[in-house]
Amino acid sequence: MKLFLDTANLAEIRQAAAWGVICGVTTNPSLAAREKEEFSAILPQICDLVDGPVSAEVLAQDYEGMVTEARQLAAIHKNVNIKIPITPEGMQAVKTLAGEGIKTNVTLVFSANQALLAARAGAAFVSPFIGRLDDIGHNGVELVEEIVALFKIHGIDTEVIAASIRHTAHVPAVALAGAHIGTIPFKVLRQMFNHPLTDSGIERFLADWQKALKG
Ligand code: G3P
Repeated sequence: MKLFLDTANLAEIRQAAAWGVICGVTTNPSLAAREKEEFSAILPQICDLVDGPVSAEVLAQDYEGMVTEARQLAAIHKNVNIKIPITPEGMQAVKTLAGEGIKTNVTLVFSANQALLAARAGAAFVSPFIGRLDDIGHNGVELVEEIVALFKIHGIDTEVIAASIRHTAHVPAVALAGAHIGTIPFKVLRQMFNHPLTDSGIERFLADWQKALKG
């Protein structure tokens, strides 16, 4: 499973890119709204920091508006793909954009039916939202498993991005469920490094080395 960072924050993206562990970025209007800079100014900088897919979401909800916004966003950089919600108008836009070679990431996916519709419209990526399903007492990881199995049976090459990841246990769970990509908030990505035995192990190696030097 590839790791993307789920943020519009440039400092977080710069840090995660420097660690060498991410190969893409996803954003959404809520994440973009947290930043001081205009999103139109942030997006090209994200593309300079990460040489991989960068998802930017349309705000329009009508077909014409979505296609117009998508074309403008896609023109910013070759790695930009367009996040479009799973609605009938959205899928019409996905179909048009796929015909123009513009990749899309269909978002706010909460069922296998929605994922299948997105794939058949021509989406490059679908994003099931794990945490938001868990929030309402459903099982987000099981949905990822279901979508991955369905795509495999039918030879669908749309990639599954496990999104709305809330904690470190979600990450191996969606990887084992077969997600092609997990998009991770920065805080969770940082926590993935942690293990108390790593910390105590480093301490012990250093202490043993110091002891040997003194002896
Ligand atoms: O990638 C989608 C993600 O940002 C949504 O996460 O935590 O708002 O459900 P959350």
